[in-house]
Amino acid sequence: MGIRYSTPAPPTEPWPQYVDLDTTASMKEPIQAKVTGTIPRWVSGSLYRNGSGIFKMGQDRFPCLFDGYAVIHRWSIQDGSVTYMSTALDSELYKKAVKHNRLVGEGIGASFPDPCKTIFNSFFSYFMPYIDYDNSYISMFERGDKLFALAENTIVHEVDRKTLKSDRKRNVDKVLAVHSGTAHPHIDREGNMYYYGTNPNNLNKLYNFVKVPPAKKGEDQFANAEIVASLPSRWKLNIGYAHSFGMTENFFIHFEQPLALNVPRMLCMGLLGAGLESTLVNYTSEPIQIHVVNRHTGERVPIKYIAPHGFIFHFINCYEDSGFVVVDVVWNNSTSPIKDFYIDQLMNAQKHKFPLDTGFARFVLPLSVQGI
Ligand SMILES: [Fe+2]
Repeated sequence: MGIRYSTPAPPTEPWPQYVDLDTTASMKEPIQAKVTGTIPRWVSGSLYRNGSGIFKMGQDRFPCLFDGYAVIHRWSIQDGSVTYMSTALDSELYKKAVKHNRLVGEGIGASFPDPCKTIFNSFFSYFMPYIDYDNSYISMFERGDKLFALAENTIVHEVDRKTLKSDRKRNVDKVLAVHSGTAHPHIDREGNMYYYGTNPNNLNKLYNFVKVPPAKKGEDQFANAEIVASLPSRWKLNIGYAHSFGMTENFFIHFEQPLALNVPRMLCMGLLGAGLESTLVNYTSEPIQIHVVNRHTGERVPIKYIAPHGFIFHFINCYEDSGFVVVDVVWNNSTSPIKDFYIDQLMNAQKHKFPLDTGFARFVLPLSVQGI
């Protein structure tokens, strides 16, 4: 029996079914879905979705909506009929959790140690707790004939379209100096993928934009990846948290947010047995700094763009228009944007109102200030 580092309090009331799945929720075969109305015969294909779905194992529960093990869904449409299938992604963390009937891995709100670790690699993982984190629970991304499950760590699962199981996994940090990734890459017209990752070993080149050319048949998708632009941190020991980045024909757009991961706290989080939230610092008196970076030269546009304090997860759209870059985002006013996603908190808040203080925001950024 290992040590439970961080066992959250039991939920204050039963959780709804969609966050209360267990291992029995995994399906081996698709089922026929009931169709209301008529689907045109020309509609054919599959929709894949990913998300944290399994929050409990044995006596343990992950408390935050971003903690659960990945569950992949597929809806397939053909000849007017629909089938549905979902299954837990067979990550190493999930398989260990099932084997030991307890949670394993580091979440936002809690941390559960790996029972398979020896004393030596337990010690190592105290200081790099995310090194083995392979719960790719955020998004599905299609590229060529490949389908990937992604999260904010650098381990990427290639998923079998039929079984929804992991065919193989790749660790991007083996080919690039990045130690976190994004679940929301972009693709350009030529088929190049653009990825984002941070490198806490070099705060002068902390935020990195990566170009991943199309892979040749049989080649690792990230084999020819290269960092094409880097930005420094505004702080000495903090990494501004970014879930995604924006891209136009010629520019990357990066929001350096005042919600930041503190590097010394990250180094201690395994030792303290705390979840990732304990490493975050929200500088409520600081603004967002927006950076616009030329995709072709890697140079930052030398204009300081400042936005009020706030928080974003997702970009809606970015485009260039008459010497301006227009950036649309989902804006969050909360001063505790991660705390808001604890399941108990969400359930409690939604009794009274939409549980998040969000809206839309548009930023129109001049590429030159001459003549303005
Ligand atoms: Fe996302």
